[in-house]
Amino acid sequence: MSHSFGPDYIRAIAPYQGGKPISEVAREFGLDESKIVKLASNENPLGMPESARKAMAAVADAGRYPDGNGFELKAALTAKYGVPAEWITLGNGSNDILELAARAFVQPGQSVVYAEYSFAVYPLATQAVGARSLVVKAKNYGHDLEAMLDAIEDDTRLVFIANPNNPTGTFIPGPEVEAFLKRVPPHVVVVLDEAYTEFLSEEQRYDSIAWVAQYPNLLVTRSMSKVYGLAGLRIGYGIAQAGITDLLNRIRQPFNVNIFAQAAAIAALADDDFVKRSAQINADGYCQLTMAFDEMGLPYVLSSGNFVLVKVGDDDGAGARVNLALLKQGIIVRPVGNYGLPQWLRISIGLEEENDLCIAALKKALAETRA
Ligand SMILES: Cc1ncc(COP(=O)(O)O)c(C=O)c1O
Repeated sequence: MSHSFGPDYIRAIAPYQGGKPISEVAREFGLDESKIVKLASNENPLGMPESARKAMAAVADAGRYPDGNGFELKAALTAKYGVPAEWITLGNGSNDILELAARAFVQPGQSVVYAEYSFAVYPLATQAVGARSLVVKAKNYGHDLEAMLDAIEDDTRLVFIANPNNPTGTFIPGPEVEAFLKRVPPHVVVVLDEAYTEFLSEEQRYDSIAWVAQYPNLLVTRSMSKVYGLAGLRIGYGIAQAGITDLLNRIRQPFNVNIFAQAAAIAALADDDFVKRSAQINADGYCQLTMAFDEMGLPYVLSSGNFVLVKVGDDDGAGARVNLALLKQGIIVRPVGNYGLPQWLRISIGLEEENDLCIAALKKALAETRA
């Protein structure tokens, strides 16, 4: 008789569905890899910055373990944000920090609050520790903070907020986030996931790092996978007061951030030109894509990230159908049926020519699938 291993709550987890890799699509559809356009994982279409590439090449010896405390990288973050090193946790991607937070603060049976149509890792991290998800209905595809406050129960230990949100791109103005922080019970840790914060416009920007000094229960997470172009290296960080940070650092792997990622991150953090150029390409690409959607009569959600959620049909097969028609043309985007959005696709913003190819393929796909 075969055993089923592990607790029920682990067996109940639906695996994370990422963007399809280029090589897999090439194999599956018999396409030339070099012709495939991937707009599926909210990566930086410029790739990694040259500054980071050079810093990686200068790593003396990867035969040694990396600095487990990330001294130099933390020094760079300290200089950038004016926070002490004791407030910083480095992660193997910011995903790592999200999981550490669930492991550090939530026991089996306790609850975690997050929004409908929010980042897929929140349910994963919650389920992995045997906790209960309190999923709060979205308002206009974004967070309903009032309802999230109401959802907090006595045993709630963690709230996840993504701002901007993925996969919808919605944005909560800073004053609303702060009003929320003021009202959350102080024993509940709030993870403010700002993976896309560098794409915000001047008018949208707010200072969440200043809030960290005021709210001992706030953990701000940032990613280096998006505007900094280091997705493949896996590097992100969390900023919180020592009461939170100390616990995260106790349970992380001792060497959770590799030697190349640390070197590249230090260089990328200082590369203001690259960040500025990336944000500009994103803003231009956003106009290009949304103008095309307007022309095609496709509804979309206003996005503050580096991607757009667009509705490609009115039936629940639409997302999957149009996605397949795009894959056949070598365009990889993200179907979001697993998020409960089967009529939509999430398209990451690419370079101008990539967006053009995507738009042309989308027109063709819609004509085919509607015929
Ligand atoms: C909202 C949000 N948070 C966190 C992440 C994790 O990114 P990473 O682990 O690459 O830093 C992502 C990635 O897509 C995201 O969309």
